[in-house]
Amino acid sequence: MIDDLCVEVPQISNCRIRLATSAREIGMARQLRREVFCREQRIFPSDDHDEIDAAALVLVAVLEAETGPVGPVVGTVRIHESEPGIWYGSRLAVHTAYRNHRGIGSTLIRLAVSTAHGKGCKQFLAHVQLLNVPMFERLHWTTVAREDCFDRPHHLMHADLTHYPPCVTPRLGYVTGVLEAR
Ligand SMILES: CC(C)(COP(=O)(O)OP(=O)(O)OC[C@H]1O[C@@H](n2cnc3c(N)ncnc32)[C@H](O)[C@@H]1OP(=O)(O)O)[C@@H](O)C(=O)NCCC(=O)NCCS
Repeated sequence: MIDDLCVEVPQISNCRIRLATSAREIGMARQLRREVFCREQRIFPSDDHDEIDAAALVLVAVLEAETGPVGPVVGTVRIHESEPGIWYGSRLAVHTAYRNHRGIGSTLIRLAVSTAHGKGCKQFLAHVQLLNVPMFERLHWTTVAREDCFDRPHHLMHADLTHYPPCVTPRLGYVTGVLEAR
């Protein structure tokens, strides 16, 4: 019977930005980072892993249907506390097919800063690639210093925490709108 063979394909309805909850998700985030920072941007030869990964919290962007998560991780960022109250975000990456105007990158930034704020952050910093400085400025970040990282121009920037209310439920995270890959 044809009807018996029909498989319902879940309709992707949105993208949830949340704390990674499994080793599998963290592995997918690491794979996305390799695609972006090694293959696309060629900042690292084959792996961008460093000592911060052992201590960092990993946030992911996961496509969702009404039935739950579907598909791979399409965005990620990591956060870590370098000294009491001082937090850093790094390795922000969104899959090329899901960039621009979908709000995944900016929502990852929002959850990153708000999660740290919920854990007692007094200052949240990031080394931002020069190209991305205007985006961070629009998201209420200010340049602290201009610094080269990995031989590329970056701005050390900090977030205005008054625009990032503490988030104490990062496992639930935030949701962005309806998505369709380009
Ligand atoms: C930077 C990056 C994470 C942004 O993710 P994204 O999902 O495209 O960002 P959003 O859709 O949330 O964009 C938010 C807004 O900023 C704009 N924007 C995105 N990248 C921008 C940039 N480099 N410069 C200026 N504006 C930018 C978007 O057009 C959008 O504008 P809108 O609010 O008017 O619609 C993504 O482009 C990426 O992964 N780049 C490669 C890796 C990288 O550069 N990482 C950051 C290192 S600092």
